[in-house]
Amino acid sequence: MGSQFGFLAKLGVMQNLASGLVACVDPVIIHNMEKYSAILKIFYYTAIEDIQGDYLEFGVYTGSSFCHALRCCKKTLKYGKQVWNSSKARTRFFGFDSFEGFGEVSEGDKHPFFEDSNFATSYEKVQKRVAPFRKHFDVKLIKGFYNESLHAGPAAMGIEKARIIFVDCDTYTAAKDVFEFCAPIVQEGTIIVLDDRVCYKGNREAGVTRAFEEFKNYSGASTRLFSLYGMGAGIQIVSGLKR
Ligand SMILES: C[S@@+](CC[C@H](N)C(=O)[O-])C[C@H]1O[C@@H](n2cnc3c(N)ncnc32)[C@H](O)[C@@H]1O
Repeated sequence: MGSQFGFLAKLGVMQNLASGLVACVDPVIIHNMEKYSAILKIFYYTAIEDIQGDYLEFGVYTGSSFCHALRCCKKTLKYGKQVWNSSKARTRFFGFDSFEGFGEVSEGDKHPFFEDSNFATSYEKVQKRVAPFRKHFDVKLIKGFYNESLHAGPAAMGIEKARIIFVDCDTYTAAKDVFEFCAPIVQEGTIIVLDDRVCYKGNREAGVTRAFEEFKNYSGASTRLFSLYGMGAGIQIVSGLKR
């Protein structure tokens, strides 16, 4: 009886074809497709687990992931309880970005890809992009560098609880401000997405991972890995909280 592997080896043409097709795909597209799938899953999960609160995204850029989150929330509303506040969905959407890139970058935050020239965007264009969602959702885009825009804290913006925190702002300094802002509003079940988890060559003492590890120490939050996606990105769930 011939081996199955012998048969597979004869499929070299097919394998070359598949490899050629995959090699043509821009890795950014692969990362983003996996990210979109991950965002859909976390909206479904937080709906069926009845995790209340708002969606906060730090690093909106052109609004792709932000608009996708709005879409996923709408699609998964049917799975949740107590999802409406009069005519609007109960989960509000807050997007935070300078819309001008990183600003001044410290020595430890320097990275070959995290440069303003790679992240040119427009606040006005993103406002237009989110406009169709305002019929069903309360959406706020907060423009400014985090060391200023987050300074007043979540209570000043009426944010009490976070359902999902999406951290996609790349550097340690930005993420540090983000986690300090979020510490009072995490609850058991809050989902925290770290899109840049293994940047800086995987160094745990740099980037978003450093800020996240510090956050766990001072916030009293314990977390569990929920899932991974794309190029080393990770999703955590707050599994316990001692305040
Ligand atoms: C990778 S992009 C976000 C991509 C977006 N989440 C998406 O998937 O479409 C990173 C964004 O973080 C923003 N950012 C980085 N550091 C910041 C800071 N200190 N304050 C405000 N925004 C910052 C940049 O302006 C940039 O738009």
